[in-house]
Amino acid sequence: MAKSKKLDYVGKMILAPMVKIGTLPTRLLALDYGADLVYTEEIIDYRLLRSKRVVNAKLETIDYIDKTDDTLVLRICPKREKGHLVLQIGTSDPSRAVKVAKMVQEDVDAIDVNMGCPKGFSLKGGMGAALLNHPDKIKAILTALVSSVDISVTCKIRILPKIEDTLALIDVIQATGVCAVGVHGRTKDERPNHSNNVEAIKAVVQHCKIPVIANGGSANTRDSPINTYEGIKGFWNDTGAASVMIARAAEWNASVFSPDGKQDIFKIIDQYMDYAIQFDQPFVLSKYNVQQHLGGLQDSELGRKFLAAGTMKDLSTIFGKEKQFAKRQVGPK
Ligand code: FNR
Repeated sequence: MAKSKKLDYVGKMILAPMVKIGTLPTRLLALDYGADLVYTEEIIDYRLLRSKRVVNAKLETIDYIDKTDDTLVLRICPKREKGHLVLQIGTSDPSRAVKVAKMVQEDVDAIDVNMGCPKGFSLKGGMGAALLNHPDKIKAILTALVSSVDISVTCKIRILPKIEDTLALIDVIQATGVCAVGVHGRTKDERPNHSNNVEAIKAVVQHCKIPVIANGGSANTRDSPINTYEGIKGFWNDTGAASVMIARAAEWNASVFSPDGKQDIFKIIDQYMDYAIQFDQPFVLSKYNVQQHLGGLQDSELGRKFLAAGTMKDLSTIFGKEKQFAKRQVGPK
């Protein structure tokens, strides 16, 4: 019998999709620390469709490069990510979604459709949380995806203001044949400072026949005991969900996936920079990620140097990696 190309969504700790954060170095760090599955940042279907696939022999990666401006859209490390990688797309159209899925299906293990983004650009484009009010469109996109590719198809939603409407939406979603559904326990209009509705996620779990991935459990304060392995397990248990997905706690410190306890943030930065240098991560993204790691520590001598960094070389030097950076510019390893 042919081996199933579907991922198993039960008992998994998952790195949530995060724009600018869920690029290759963060995904590899999360895997190092025990994440079972890792999501890319959301990438809009149009951007993927105007990109070309390039086998990058030097980095041993698969790159998707925007043909219009040569920018990096997606970098994948098959050696490390095979069997673990979910591409999240932003879409409002079944045919574009299918074109993307067919284009990437050899390189990723699943396609997730973002149905939770509350930002203006998503809503205006009929994507993200705009889809929540259009079950027919959800049905069309997911059904088209499920019937077009062999890899797993999932979606990630926010809850609706009324629980009965959320459950009705779940019925639409599970009838499409998707493998799992991610549920963030906040509505489209709620922000991170609103409490995450664990009861609503629990109700979805009890109602839903496919695995539910619970989300929204990170605390707003980075050093909260909730943003630890035990804290995440606690949230996961409270929801009764099949799997759990973590965003902010992992953005601040990817070692939250490890039962061995959270690592010192300078160790995380060191490891992040190693990957950023190894995989030619663009400077702006690298600086942004390290900035999230540093948080309040930017208000220090090192923090001031960090803020003044204007190139990848500057950034590498600040963290004692100038030789490593210089070597990387010459040859592969
Ligand atoms: C996000 N979130 C998000 N969600 C999504 O579906 N696609 C995305 O690309 C992003 N991007 C993103 C970037 C950043 C910096 C943050 C903090 C969040 C939302 C995220 O996946 C998650 O649903 C929420 O953050 C709630 O989970 P936590 O943070 O409580 O674990």
